[in-house]
Parts: sequence; C-alpha cells; structure tokens
Amino acid sequence: MSGKPSYSILAVDDDATNLRMLHEILSPSYKVYAAPSGERAMRFLEKRDVDLILLDVEMPGLNGYEVIKRLKEDPRLAPVPVLFLTAQEGRDKEETALRLGAVDYILKPITAGVVLARVNLHMELEIYRKRLETLVSQKTAQLSDTQNSILDILAGVTAWRDSGTGGHITRTTAYSRLIVESIIEHGHPKYVISPLYGDNIVKSSKLHDIGKVAISDSILLKPGRLTGEEFDEIKKHTTFGAQMIDDAIADLGDESSFLHVSREIVISHHEWWNGSGYPMALAEDEIPISGRVMAISDIYDSLTSERPYKGAMSHDEAMDIIYGETGTHFDPLLIEMLQDTFPRFEEIAASQQNAGGAPRGKRSP
Ligand SMILES: [Fe+2]
Repeated sequence: MSGKPSYSILAVDDDATNLRMLHEILSPSYKVYAAPSGERAMRFLEKRDVDLILLDVEMPGLNGYEVIKRLKEDPRLAPVPVLFLTAQEGRDKEETALRLGAVDYILKPITAGVVLARVNLHMELEIYRKRLETLVSQKTAQLSDTQNSILDILAGVTAWRDSGTGGHITRTTAYSRLIVESIIEHGHPKYVISPLYGDNIVKSSKLHDIGKVAISDSILLKPGRLTGEEFDEIKKHTTFGAQMIDDAIADLGDESSFLHVSREIVISHHEWWNGSGYPMALAEDEIPISGRVMAISDIYDSLTSERPYKGAMSHDEAMDIIYGETGTHFDPLLIEMLQDTFPRFEEIAASQQNAGGAPRGKRSP
C-alpha cells in the first residue's frame, strides 16, 4: 500500500488488547476504526462506509456470524470484504465464516506480519474491484449514449423518408415515456413494467415506423387519401420493420432485450384491442404492453398533428376519439389508468408545435 491512510478499516473485537494491536499494525497504512461489539459495529456502519472489515467470531451479544449475515443482507454493505479473526482451535469456524461470505480469516493470536499481508492483499483486491465497477459503469454509460445516438440516426432516416415525421417521432417518444412512467407509478399487477423494460419501450418508440423506409415513395409520400391497395402496402411497414430487427437479432444472438422490445413495438403498434388491427389481428392481452403503449402515443399524435390531407385536432377532440375507441382500438384498463396522464400530452403537443417539420435540408433543391 502507499502508506497513506486513504482507505478505511473497521476492526470489530470485544478484546481491547486485540483492538489496540490491530490499530498499531494497520494505522500507518489505513484509517482504522474500532468497534468493541457486533452491535456497535452495525451502528457505526449505518452511518459510515469502510473499505474492509476485520470481524471477531466469538463476541458476547451479536457474534461475528450474525454480524456478517446482516452485512450480506444489506445491498450497500454486502460488497465490503470481511476477514474473520478466529481462534486457532476453531477450524470448522473458518469454514462457516467462508460459507457466510467472508473473504478470508486470520488466526489468533494475531501477528503484525500476517495481519498486514492479508489485509493488504484483500484491500488491493477491493480497490481493483471498485475500479472495475467504475470502469464497467462508465463503459455501460458510453454504450448507452452510442445506442441512443444510433437510435436518433435511425429515427432521422425514417423522418427523411416520410415527410413531417421528425416531430412525430420526438412527440410519440415523449408520450410513450409519460405512459410508461404512469404505468410504473400505478403498479397494477396486469402491467408489470421493470425499469429496463420501461426504458426499452421509450427508446424503441423512436423506431416504431422504421419499416416505412421499405415503402415506395409514390405511396409513402402520396398527397391525399390512399387507395385500398396502397393502404395494404403501407401496412407492410410493420412486418418490414420486424424483419429488419430480426436480422439484427440474428447477428447479435438472443442477448439484446432492447431489440426484442423494439420488435414488439414495430410489429404490434397497429393492432387493435378487439382484434381488428394489423398485421396479425392480435386481440387484448395478446398484444404486448409495449405495442398498446405505442398505439396510444401514435394515434394521439396523428390526431393532433397537421397532415397534408387534414388539419390538426385539439387535445379535447383527440381525447374524444381515443375515449370513443376505448375497448375497440385501445385497452380499456390502460386508458382508465392514464386519465391523469393525458392532460400532460397537451403540454407536450403545445411545446413541440414547431417540431413537426421534416429534417433540415429535406428535399432542398
Ligand atoms: Fe406505424
């Protein structure tokens, strides 16, 4: 070790002589705290963090085994390495200590050489573990940033192909975020959304119409109403999008929960609660929650946005239609749960009014 007491140790022992010896041996290299009982150690650890714990087994009151059990039950304290101090004759106790999660043990009577060697070794490992943990969280954050950038690029690709959908993607993603937050807040047993699933739904919302890049310009950009045949062609954007994501899943293996949620949304956001949607005519609970969320975001934004062939509806008019289609198009329980959330859609729609245009430079001469 560097000799600087920047790392801390809690020594727990009912024997005052042992505590004093541990302090003498370790204090030149570490900041050493002492607790004369298991109870005092637990009280100390409620308020303070340490890098390593030296724990006597035999103590009146809360003994070493009971202390380590409590430490391992606490997510904050569980990772702190614990070294047991055990009596020479208690070999079976060493086994118990290791089984309970101690990283090592030191036999009593303690000597400076053994204590320092063992503590230094485990402190080095602990410092290494913490560095690794920091590195992993930094890399995970970088990966997430990269994923978000790629998503934005892909969303931009859809927007470039489909005039005016840049704002649509931004707004629908914001609506999906509000819906997911509201579902998590309500905590209804029918709608179990883990933080990861919720995050994946919000991110994947950006990709819901990615399959439109495979639809021909003459249909996708046609001003005015589509014929039945053309509409059938547009409907294929769900299956085209799913195929694109299937290719990515095939490349990456089955590991990416994000891509699976993206696929759910892409393929199911036009399904209807009564089974009259497309492409698979799924009904009720057959429709993934992610698809039901996206359907609400998508329709609300379509209704409240201006299109070449129609004007923008007000929030109230759009909500009348959504409530009117509850039980046919939309999941009734979900719509009921979102009653307090819908007014916040209006705020987003108002604040994003100018985000509805095509990306800059689109079709510039
Ligand atoms: Fe769509």
